[in-house]
Amino acid sequence: MHLAKSTVSSVVQVFRKEHRIQRKTSTGRKKKLSDAHEQRIMDILTEKDDITIEETRNKFLMLNPEVSNISKSTIYRIMENCQMKLKSRPDMEVFVGTLVHATDSDPMLIMQDMVLGVINGKIEFVESVEELQQLKAEYGFTDANILYMGSSQFLMPGLVDTHTHAPQFPNNGLALDLPLLEWLQTYTFPTEANFSDTVFAREVYSKVVDRLLRNGTTTAAYFATIHLDATKILAEVLHSRGQRAIVGKVNMLRNCPEYYREASLSVSLRETEEFIRYVKGFENSLVLPCVTPRFAPTCPEDQLGELAQLAIKFDCHVQTHLCETQPEATWVKELFPWAKTYTEVYDFTRLLGAKTIVAHAIWLSPQEMTILAERGTGVAHCPSSNLSLRSGHCNVRELLNRGVKVGLGSDCSGGYSPCMLDSLRKCVHVSNTIAMERAAQQAGDYTPLSHKEAFKMATLGGAKVLSMDDKIGNFEIDKEFDALLIDVQAKGSPIDVFSQDNVEMKVDRFLYNGDDRNIVRVYVAGKRLLDSTTSANATAAAVAAATTAT
Ligand code: GUN
Ligand code: FE
Repeated sequence: MHLAKSTVSSVVQVFRKEHRIQRKTSTGRKKKLSDAHEQRIMDILTEKDDITIEETRNKFLMLNPEVSNISKSTIYRIMENCQMKLKSRPDMEVFVGTLVHATDSDPMLIMQDMVLGVINGKIEFVESVEELQQLKAEYGFTDANILYMGSSQFLMPGLVDTHTHAPQFPNNGLALDLPLLEWLQTYTFPTEANFSDTVFAREVYSKVVDRLLRNGTTTAAYFATIHLDATKILAEVLHSRGQRAIVGKVNMLRNCPEYYREASLSVSLRETEEFIRYVKGFENSLVLPCVTPRFAPTCPEDQLGELAQLAIKFDCHVQTHLCETQPEATWVKELFPWAKTYTEVYDFTRLLGAKTIVAHAIWLSPQEMTILAERGTGVAHCPSSNLSLRSGHCNVRELLNRGVKVGLGSDCSGGYSPCMLDSLRKCVHVSNTIAMERAAQQAGDYTPLSHKEAFKMATLGGAKVLSMDDKIGNFEIDKEFDALLIDVQAKGSPIDVFSQDNVEMKVDRFLYNGDDRNIVRVYVAGKRLLDSTTSANATAAAVAAATTAT
């Protein structure tokens, strides 16, 4: 092992802090070697490549006359651990156990006895565990790099929230008694107006991002408010917390209160461009700027067109709302009499493209669905919001059949839960409701969405909607490692697991009955942003697996 001295000593330092070695002396008493003594043994070990245990012991005793004796096994153990640490690759993390993800052909593929390797934040290999020894030899990693998952644990891709409003979180779980247009004027615009206060913005946005990460949302598409400074704060918080995100300063010039609207079209465009440049200026960032016209009723045609040009100029995402309620769609036809449909308003102004996300899209004609499919525009399906505001049931099956990309969105605070598991469950229930309505009307066969399809929408589907499926969404090699370590028996888990449960049952139980307590680790681009592994579980599993696997 030839490593620079500085590397060796820093590895040893880390190792020494992590492992306080306790062992028995010949008399059977537990004795802890002092830190200084342990360090001296490590220094002796790392001075010379081929030093023997005998030589190490003699040198140590000579340099430390206050120690009367030290056993060879003590030195051996320190040497072994030291070597393991030196040999391991600090840039690698390896997982052994069950993997669950969606692919183009399988909405929820469960793979047992797998090994997944991450190097510098990207997935390097996904193999059967039988290849472990071979992989260790090839890549030079050791057990120090490996997390052996227990039988209650599995790894899944991070959840993707394709539509949420960070400044509406102060209203989460409140004020859900009005339909959309009244709800906006009565509750939502006044709440968003508070973000002229940047101190308040920082407080709220920090809590929002922490809450989403805690719930396993590794990527989110955020609406902010019209305020440039507060929106910059949201982007900064996202950047510093490490969540992957697209984020937009909201644009709106009409049909909103005077105290909460952009000053003019030129100010709207100038500030939007400034925000885009500001976010693009972040180094090594997972945060992307997004052009965010609130929806057609608040944005005149010239604003929509100019914003589309900004998005094209900077190759940015676009996000907006589309056909969420019938009164809204009727209103849009009055506001844009030249347009045959609501979708045509966005299409004509060139807002629809492969990096555009439209939220809701409930009341679309088949022709409008075809336009979305042709443009590659994705739909953020927000079932919780659509039920709370009584907006309607989105027919996701039909959108998918017509080739439209669909992901899930929490749409807080139209929806009340920031947790994508809630969206996943409500997505299945809305689809069941459509199936029941169809059956009652004898309106032909309708296959409701399965929880597996909803799982796909919450992961790979969401990544496609955000045009990020080349980077995230599942465990394909070379994708970035955005992942959740799930433990159905985590401390305080709300899930009952029974002795006859197989892996698939554990995964299903998590999707239906799990919550953030079961999400014990959260990774974004390979970085561990959250870790609440009950070390008892993880360590026990590691010890058991290590003894069989090595
Ligand atoms: N349409 C325009 N603005 C909004 C909003 O803030 N929430 C929802 N659900 N729909 C909208
Ligand atoms: Fe929304």
